[in-house]
Amino acid sequence: MPEEYHIPRTMTAIGFDAPGSADVLRPEVREVPLPGENEVLIKVRAAGINRPDVLQRRGFYPPPAGASDIPGLEVSGVIVGRGPNVDDALIGRPVCALLPGGGYAEYAVAPVGQCLPVPDGYDIVEAAALPETLFTVWSNLFERAYVIEGDTVLVHGGTSGIGTMAISLCALFGITAIVTCGSDSKCEAALKIGASHAINYATTDFVEAVREITEGRGVQAVLDMVGGDYVPRNLACLAEEGRHVSIATQRGVTAEIPLVAIMQKRLTLTGSTLRPRSVGFKTLIAEELAQTVWPFVEQGKLRPVMDRTFPLAEAGAAHARMEAGEHMGKIVLVV
Ligand SMILES: NC(=O)c1ccc[n+]([C@@H]2O[C@H](COP(=O)([O-])OP(=O)(O)OC[C@H]3O[C@@H](n4cnc5c(N)ncnc54)[C@H](OP(=O)(O)O)[C@@H]3O)[C@@H](O)[C@H]2O)c1
Repeated sequence: MPEEYHIPRTMTAIGFDAPGSADVLRPEVREVPLPGENEVLIKVRAAGINRPDVLQRRGFYPPPAGASDIPGLEVSGVIVGRGPNVDDALIGRPVCALLPGGGYAEYAVAPVGQCLPVPDGYDIVEAAALPETLFTVWSNLFERAYVIEGDTVLVHGGTSGIGTMAISLCALFGITAIVTCGSDSKCEAALKIGASHAINYATTDFVEAVREITEGRGVQAVLDMVGGDYVPRNLACLAEEGRHVSIATQRGVTAEIPLVAIMQKRLTLTGSTLRPRSVGFKTLIAEELAQTVWPFVEQGKLRPVMDRTFPLAEAGAAHARMEAGEHMGKIVLVV
């Protein structure tokens, strides 16, 4: 029999009146959201912070139509309510979930297909740090760039939430990960996490370094969160038939592309943004992750790299930490 939960009418959530610096984030009282068809209500235990939340707070990344205006793209917690078409037996299950928004709150609604079970003994706070980077890295590096065992990839932002997840997944699937970071200490951390090579981009030309590491062969894929003038340099790192995947444009939204390199090496340029994709697409990714990656989660072989946690009410301080750029791995809000 499913457990009964008392669900209050209101909750504490993090909001902001107008876009601005990290201190615009503040706790406020909101109505507990109601789960619709194929949705569950999660009593949130922890909420992961991602760079897109910072962009949203600064006014550059509005929530897609129909999504909560409360920031937060991933949570962990317990299912305490359900909408139509959802099995009652799920009530009481610990899950982590990918959300289109609404994570920085005591309760959040998630499509049931975007929830994954938190195994017994797995740290529920750490589980909140999995979905956004896992769905993003899987769908971009493993699907769009279809990397396989034996491949070598270049990933920028080696100690970012995304970068640390990419390193961890590459280690599990027999892929050599070369990463770039902005300091020697970040390079050291990336190597400890499991990167095969870490290049300090502040002191070393990564194109030259990749050429040396791969003995001139180049890499099969680049996962790029930098954009701008990195793009032609990334293309120079690619082997024949290489794939370039753009997931962010931190150094510029446009790039000059050497078309001859694309023709000569038969390169593929692609990219994606996860948040606006349909529930159907995200559900498919969740099903694939359940089959391919979740066995590692269940065995405790895939854990997020944690930077630090903050109480929910200190979301502003957590954003300030991310913007300072000194974090390594994931920052998580604990409810
Ligand atoms: N497309 C999608 O669906 C999607 C989904 C999630 C996230 N993202 C994007 O992925 C990126 C990482 O997200 P996150 O949450 O993991 O953020 P994060 O932990 O804050 O990481 C940002 C990383 O970007 C690197 N970086 C920033 N400016 C750089 C530059 N000029 N040159 C080289 N590296 C630079 C930093 O590396 P150093 O500190 O070493 O310089 C840092 O590791 C963000 O840009 C985010 O918007 C995209």
